[in-house]
Amino acid sequence: MSSTFLHQRPIQALPSNPSLLSPRSSNFTHRPVSVFSRTGLLVLLFLMVLLGIFIPWSEMPGGLLLLSSGGTKPALTKWRSYTLAQAASFVAKNGTLIVCAVSEPYLPFLNNWLISITRQKHHEKVLVIAEDYATLYRVNEKWPGHAVLIPPVVDTQTAHKFGSQGFFNFTSRRPRHLLSIVELGYSVMYNDVDMVWLGDPFPYLEGHHDVYFTDDMAPVKPLNHSHDLPPPNKKGRTYICSCMIFLRPTPGAKLVLKTWIEELEAQPWSRAKKANDQPGFNWALMKTAQHQQVDLYLLPQSAFPTGGLYFKNKTWVKETKGMHVIIHNNYILGFEKKIKRFHDYGLWLVDDHYSESPLGRL
Ligand SMILES: *[C@@H]1O[C@H](CO)[C@@H](O)[C@H](O)[C@H]1NC(C)=O
Ligand SMILES: *[C@@H]1O[C@H](CO)[C@@H](O)[C@H](O)[C@H]1NC(C)=O
Ligand SMILES: *[C@@H]1O[C@H](CO)[C@@H](O)[C@H](O)[C@H]1NC(C)=O
Ligand SMILES: *[C@@H]1O[C@H](CO)[C@@H](O)[C@H](O)[C@H]1NC(C)=O
Repeated sequence: MSSTFLHQRPIQALPSNPSLLSPRSSNFTHRPVSVFSRTGLLVLLFLMVLLGIFIPWSEMPGGLLLLSSGGTKPALTKWRSYTLAQAASFVAKNGTLIVCAVSEPYLPFLNNWLISITRQKHHEKVLVIAEDYATLYRVNEKWPGHAVLIPPVVDTQTAHKFGSQGFFNFTSRRPRHLLSIVELGYSVMYNDVDMVWLGDPFPYLEGHHDVYFTDDMAPVKPLNHSHDLPPPNKKGRTYICSCMIFLRPTPGAKLVLKTWIEELEAQPWSRAKKANDQPGFNWALMKTAQHQQVDLYLLPQSAFPTGGLYFKNKTWVKETKGMHVIIHNNYILGFEKKIKRFHDYGLWLVDDHYSESPLGRL
């Protein structure tokens, strides 16, 4: 604590409390000491160390708040200017990050998801991309350094209605965030926060492919289904989920993300189509795969089923018991309905198990 204090505390801050600088108040010397002499500086430094213990943390400049994790409420200015590069290097383990993008109304889902990840001991590499300042502050207050905000902030009032332009704008930021992270050299797993981990997904990321993803189609596949990008349906498209993606920092993965961003720009939201970011992701996968520019890997359905299968086919769930790794609460609209469904399936953990979350009770 003290050494960091000495490195960071600006020397100019001291004269603001002159009584503490009086040599007479010091037990260490009775000789008048000039602030500018060598000895004076040493005495000052020594005093600063002492003061570091006695000055209430709340009076400290924002830059020092990293130190205050015990005790008083951490001030939040530090995290306002925390860049993605700084956050990533602070949080990444073994060159890998797990990220989600969250705005304030989704904090209960974030906490639920985090509890399930903590049970698999992968929480230390979770970086929350906060889509508003309230989320940034609340996460960093409880779990310093684990949230970052990438400006600009989108209008979160309009961002939550599935199919709306606000929702499109909100989800369109996803490939940009992911591209920034792989360009920094990290492998990254992206998850929507309406997911729950029942097992550890990392052993399923076999081989050295560029991009790993899950199918959002509900029809049951054989357990030994291919790991290639599935063939397009009658409408000429695949139906891969943009909800759970693992990317390695390879040229192939970067190309997929760049193509995804181009697709979103080329096909902006319209009232007629009410798109989100998922079709753009699928076009990007199809285009890059067609030209053999990328090495893709479809994760097994038994471990990563869509909500359209897991919550709708009890027979299948029984048949594949013990194989499920990540459950996605999709194929249902509405906040309350999602919570109720998690409840009904014993996957709503925040009420009884919040103490297992690094965020505690929110
Ligand atoms: C670290 O990352 C490498 C490459 O991504 C992986 O093969 C290895 O298993 C990881 N090690 C641990 C301890 O997670
Ligand atoms: C979405 O983004 C477009 C283009 O940047 C902008 O014109 C529009 O106002 C945004 N809409 C909402 C609801 O955020
Ligand atoms: C899956 O197993 C069946 C029956 O054992 C076999 O006919 C089929 O070729 C296998 N499919 C793949 C993709 O390996
Ligand atoms: C439900 O799962 C069973 C067992 O895998 C499968 O035979 C059946 O076709 C599935 N039902 C539907 C409606 O997909």
